Amino acid sequence: MMRVSYGKWTKHKLMSQDDLLIGYLPDTVYFTEETLWGMLEKHGKVMLKPCFGYQGLGVIQLSALENDHIELHKEYKKIILNGKEETYSYLKENHFSRKRPRYIVQQKIPLATINNNPFDLRVMVQRKRNSLEWVITGKLAKLAANNYVITNAAKAILSLEEAVQRSTLNNEQTNNIVTELDQVSLIVAEQLAKSYPNIRAYGIDLGIDQEGKIWIIEANLSPSIFMFKLLKDGSYETIRCYQKG
Ligand SMILES: Nc1ncnc2c1ncn2[C@@H]1O[C@H](COP(=O)(O)OP(=O)(O)O)[C@@H](O)[C@H]1O
Ligand SMILES: [Mg+2]
Repeated sequence: MMRVSYGKWTKHKLMSQDDLLIGYLPDTVYFTEETLWGMLEKHGKVMLKPCFGYQGLGVIQLSALENDHIELHKEYKKIILNGKEETYSYLKENHFSRKRPRYIVQQKIPLATINNNPFDLRVMVQRKRNSLEWVITGKLAKLAANNYVITNAAKAILSLEEAVQRSTLNNEQTNNIVTELDQVSLIVAEQLAKSYPNIRAYGIDLGIDQEGKIWIIEANLSPSIFMFKLLKDGSYETIRCYQKG
C-alpha cells in the first residue's frame, strides 16, 4: 500500500471528507501566490503554515491593512509591507527555503484569549496496540507567550477548565464544550485512522474562538507528550500506559 503523506495539506483533505468534521475545519487551501491573495482578500487575516512544520516553526500570520499594506507577524515580530509584490518578495527572501515552498493558507481563527493572549487546546487520542477503540487520554490548554500568535511558544500550560474559566468566554458559550471537544477529537482519530492504520496516538490542536465555537487547527501524528507532564493531573501516566500497551 502506498504511504499517505503526513503533511498538513493531506491531513486537511482527509479530515474534510467527513461530514461532521467539515464544519469544524477552518477554510484552508494549498499555497500558491494566487491562493494566498485570494484567501487574504476573503478573510482579512490568514495563517501561512509549512506543510511539514512543527512547534510553530515557520508559521506566519498575514493581515490585510488599509491601502494595500500587509502586516506579517512571525514569532513576536511584526513588520508592515507595502503591497502584494513587496510582501511576496519579502516572503521569498526571508521565509521560503526552497524554490517551490509547500505551505497551506488557512483562515485565521480569532482564538479566545486570557489577558489578551490567545490559547488553544491539545487533545490526546490513543488506542492500545491490539485495540480499535480510541480513547481520550489527556487534554490541556496552551497559552501563547506575550506578542505571539502561536501557542507553541507557550507562556503556560493549563487545564482546559482553568483556561476556559480565566478566558473571556462566558458560561453560556462553553456549555457542553467538553462533550463536543471529545466527540470531535474521537472522530478526527477515526477518520485519519482509515489512512494511517499504524498510528496509535493523535495529538489534536483545537481552538475555541471568541464566540465559543470549536475549530480543528491540526492533527499531529507523532505528538510530543512532555506538556502533559507539566499538568500533573495523571494524564501523563495514562498516556505512557497507552504508548506501551
Ligand atoms: N488557523 C489558525 N487560526 C489561529 N491560530 C492558528 C491557526 N493555525 C495555527 N494557529 C496557531 O499556530 C500554532 C501552530 O500551528 P499548527 O497548525 O499547530 O502548526 P505546528 O505543526 O507548527 O504546531 C497553533 O497551535 C495555533 O496557536
Ligand atoms: Mg501544532
